[in-house]
Amino acid sequence: MTFPAKRPRRLRSRPALRRLVRETRIAPEDLIYPLFVRDAIDEPQPIASMPGHHQHTLESLTREAEAAIKVGVRSFVLFGIPARKDAQGSEAWNEDGISQRALRQLRNAFGADALLIADLCLCEYTDHGHCGVLEGEIVANDQTLELYQRIAVAQAAAGADVIAPSGMMDGQVRAIRSALDQEGFQDRAILAYAAKYASAFYGPFREAAGSAPRFGDRRGYQMDPANAREAIRESLLDVEEGADIVMVKPALAFLDVIRAVADATEVPVAAYNVSGEYAMVKAAAANGWIDERRVLREILLGIRRAGAQMILTYHAKQAAADIPCWDEMG
Ligand code: PBG
Repeated sequence: MTFPAKRPRRLRSRPALRRLVRETRIAPEDLIYPLFVRDAIDEPQPIASMPGHHQHTLESLTREAEAAIKVGVRSFVLFGIPARKDAQGSEAWNEDGISQRALRQLRNAFGADALLIADLCLCEYTDHGHCGVLEGEIVANDQTLELYQRIAVAQAAAGADVIAPSGMMDGQVRAIRSALDQEGFQDRAILAYAAKYASAFYGPFREAAGSAPRFGDRRGYQMDPANAREAIRESLLDVEEGADIVMVKPALAFLDVIRAVADATEVPVAAYNVSGEYAMVKAAAANGWIDERRVLREILLGIRRAGAQMILTYHAKQAAADIPCWDEMG
């Protein structure tokens, strides 16, 4: 009988040794917590497909952010749901629009303790649900860019630290960068949704944000899930246009894309663990089919291993509270 000369099991033999050789760790400050705030409601509205999440009032939004800060999550991405929609989505750049009020409120409440990221898109604000203005049934790229510039400036003026354009218009990063610079907001960063796929995993979000398109779909501007090399092209273009951080979205079916973008760029990479990914975990856990805490840990470690430095996730508050126990679980 010949014995193995190399025994990887040795390093797995004791908890202290396993911790010592652990390659990937996640801290609460790596997580970004997406929150929804809705205009003209008195009570927070639960989102059925996203258990634990609500369309918040300004008040409940602040309480939820405070609870997250208590467990170490300081970064938030905000989605506003207006009371009034029109063809252009004009509430998006109204200085008293819901997103802008929410930004001011969180800034007042938490000062520099909170990092405020404003999602910049029109789909929550247009009556047709598309991410830009229409010309016939086509989203008109360059006309939409002018509206994105107005939104970026309104969000920055309301206190956003980071602007996160998610509409997948060509040239959106350059357009926003130049508008911000022109208005004196050179210090605000851009987190670009660089490789955003036309994905069925956004289903619950569209219920949460009331942003489903009234006709057609988003395949004319969001990426084809079959493509990986194109994600590198999109990411390099965004970096060239001035993106400070690039993002891949969704995360779990696109881990190879996260890796490819991380290898091809020199800026930090973010990944969006989207609503459908959250809903699947919650549904399986509610049925007792998976151990939610351990599954969540594996998911976040997987996204991290793939090359994302930061993760947008609806599990952020829950995960952060649990992270002190993770070394014992592994
Ligand atoms: C807005 C936007 C979407 C998401 C983030 N920003 C929806 C979409 O593109 O239809 C999805 C987020 C999620 O599913 O968690 N354009």
